[in-house]
Amino acid sequence: TTKTLIAPSVLSADFSRLGDEVEAIDRAGADWIHLDVMDGHFVPNITFGPPVIKAIRNRTKKLFDCHLMIAPVDAYLAAFADAGCDSITVHAEAGPHLDRSLQAIKALGKQAGVSLNPSTPENVIEYVLDRLDLVLLMTVNPGFGGQAFIPAMVDKVKRVKAMIGERPIRIEIDGGVSPETAPLVAAAGADVLIAGAAIFRGGGEDAYRDNIEAIRSA
Ligand code: DX5
Ligand code: ZN
Repeated sequence: TTKTLIAPSVLSADFSRLGDEVEAIDRAGADWIHLDVMDGHFVPNITFGPPVIKAIRNRTKKLFDCHLMIAPVDAYLAAFADAGCDSITVHAEAGPHLDRSLQAIKALGKQAGVSLNPSTPENVIEYVLDRLDLVLLMTVNPGFGGQAFIPAMVDKVKRVKAMIGERPIRIEIDGGVSPETAPLVAAAGADVLIAGAAIFRGGGEDAYRDNIEAIRSA
């Protein structure tokens, strides 16, 4: 595959040693660090928020790719920016004012992303394309790591790639990414592959390095 970036999701890391885990995946070759924020309202799970992101910020210089699975979202954007998120991705389904949320993220000086759940058609981003740095396509239903990749999403990747055209927007894929599924979405136009279970299984920096390379070279 071409220069596809790998963004390990810390959702599958050992939360009792989160800072050490971030350092380990940094050394193991992670390009970005994917941080899954869940509120128990937008998704049926709760993870962490700005205090935890702030606590691990200085453990790596790699880009913090913050995936906000929360609703409502606008009230929290500044806190995530202050905590150290470099990119902030909101869900198109999280509320009625996606354009306003994206403007707010850019006003905070951060990269702006939108995430689409599997059943959400890609045309919801049609009128906000020029505000985007990232489109995060969920290839599982959000809330948990280790779920099965949804094959129907490959077609959505191709369609979003076509919508983007020459715009400087990266397509991120999130959910069930492994050496088996990575080639499908890379061929369809994905620029960044997020993976949790497929990277953190085994445990330890050497396993993480092997798992990252297995996805990158698939
Ligand atoms: C799910 C999260 C994903 C998840 C990916 O709601 O947004 O980032 O952690 O985990 P895997 O790679 O295990 O499917
Ligand atoms: Zn995610």
